[in-house]
Amino acid sequence: MSNATAKEVAKRRTFAIISHPDAGKTTITERLLLMGQAISVAGTVKARKSDRHATSDWMAMEKQRGISVTTSVMQFPYRDRMINLLDTPGHEDFSEDTYRTLTAVDSALMVLDGGKGVEPRTIALMEVCRLRDTPIVSFVNKLDRDIRDPIELLDEIEAVLKIKAAPITWPIGCYRDFKGVYRLATDTIIIYEPGHGHERTEQKIIQGLDSDAAREYLGDMYDGFVEELELVQGACHEFDRDAFLRGEMTPVFFGTALGNFGVEQVLDAIVDWAPQPLPRPAHERSVEPTEETFTGFVFKIQANMDPKHRDRIAFMRICSGHYDKGMKLHHVRTGKEVRIADALTFFASEREHLEEAWAGDIIGLHNHGTIQIGDTFTQGESVGFTGIPHFAPELFRRVRLKDPLKSKQLRQGLQELAEEGATQVFFPERSNDIILGAVGVLQFDVVASRLKEEYKVECIYEPVNVWSARWVESTDKKKFEEFKNKAMENLAIDGGGHLTYLAPTRVNLSLTEERWPDVQFRATREHH
Ligand code: G4P
Repeated sequence: MSNATAKEVAKRRTFAIISHPDAGKTTITERLLLMGQAISVAGTVKARKSDRHATSDWMAMEKQRGISVTTSVMQFPYRDRMINLLDTPGHEDFSEDTYRTLTAVDSALMVLDGGKGVEPRTIALMEVCRLRDTPIVSFVNKLDRDIRDPIELLDEIEAVLKIKAAPITWPIGCYRDFKGVYRLATDTIIIYEPGHGHERTEQKIIQGLDSDAAREYLGDMYDGFVEELELVQGACHEFDRDAFLRGEMTPVFFGTALGNFGVEQVLDAIVDWAPQPLPRPAHERSVEPTEETFTGFVFKIQANMDPKHRDRIAFMRICSGHYDKGMKLHHVRTGKEVRIADALTFFASEREHLEEAWAGDIIGLHNHGTIQIGDTFTQGESVGFTGIPHFAPELFRRVRLKDPLKSKQLRQGLQELAEEGATQVFFPERSNDIILGAVGVLQFDVVASRLKEEYKVECIYEPVNVWSARWVESTDKKKFEEFKNKAMENLAIDGGGHLTYLAPTRVNLSLTEERWPDVQFRATREHH
């Protein structure tokens, strides 16, 4: 390991924001970019989003439904660090994308709406983070509104999310009485002034709760606040960084993203406490970020970021070594060497051509159909990173073409959309049907709309008698052949060429599993 590599790795912080829709993820993302001076006035990210909307039906749908479908990646410098922020779609129908994005980060920021507390999507995302013990920083948002009792919110985090909550700041009032936050460890009041939501302002502080300035600033609220604080200090956990790094404790901050208050403290916490790029487990060994040779894995493929070019971008997390413009990489799955001359980085909302990148960074590769989710790139070594999941879909539709002459385009479109993870596609062994699988129902609409827009194919969905899908395999060849012969009616090949059992009912699946103990029925599949 050279000093230069270690230094670059130590500078990186790669994280994602997890939250229930409407908790304020987009707003906080903008404010974070403002901190990194990646944008000069908050509001620009949303404006750019609407520019893009105009150019495609799919994006129009995104706008119309008011949900964020795509994952964006943004890089910006902050203090002496380089921050990589991975945005995740908030809508539950896109959970697969979100799961995979969370495999590419080293920490996460959980945003809660102070008026609502822990919501269903927060719980689901926390479960994913727990699989890897990802350290979580928490931000309770919307303090400029009425919020629930903060002690109750902390209790809820602990009880529902099963993680210890350590308040770093404590709110002084809320809504019209919101005066700021008190930083427990340093005995400092950070003053909230409304009306600065769109710019960077210097923090104004009062040192010492016991000071005259503090008494004067809090006025009538002073005694009540001191009392509340005693309760908090007696009942809450003290922050323990090691417990945070193990994923057992979350530091909690309060503020308002819209008012751009408290966001800076959160970013400072990520810089000071969250881990630098961590080693990544591969099937063969654990890969250290400071190794000199390059490794990386693709966690997302996104089509048509620029509709004019119809390009598809594969997002790769660098796990070790560094990327130099024009370097040759070994594509492990295909065994081919490729020269990467035009990788992209995602500086704020712009795409820029990149000269260099290090472990922890995300780079975008132009994909002409050869790259799949889960693919690994190295400088020659054959490693495959673990834990990039593919979930058995829970919803199924048969696809019918409006114009039967377009079946080639349909197959190609579905194959590409499946590679990208937009849907899963199954080709039954015994019929010419095409069956689509999804984890959330909205995925079907996205696929139909993209088929029309990008492949000029109009399709209709029909109900199909499939309850669930399981990837099947067996080490016993003879038994597996026997199984295949018997179960042929229910077998299909998925978009990645894997054999799948399409079970018409829950009962059918359990009976089949019982009948064939030598066959494994898997509900998740890792990309190799
Ligand atoms: P999301 O990405 O998590 O879905 O949430 P987003 O940031 O879009 O925020 C959801 C709504 O909550 C937005 O209002 C946003 O302005 C508002 N919001 C975010 N942070 C705060 C906050 O600290 N205080 C208050 N009062 N509101 C906040 P909207 O009306 O849905 O959208 P918009 O028209 O304001 O953009």
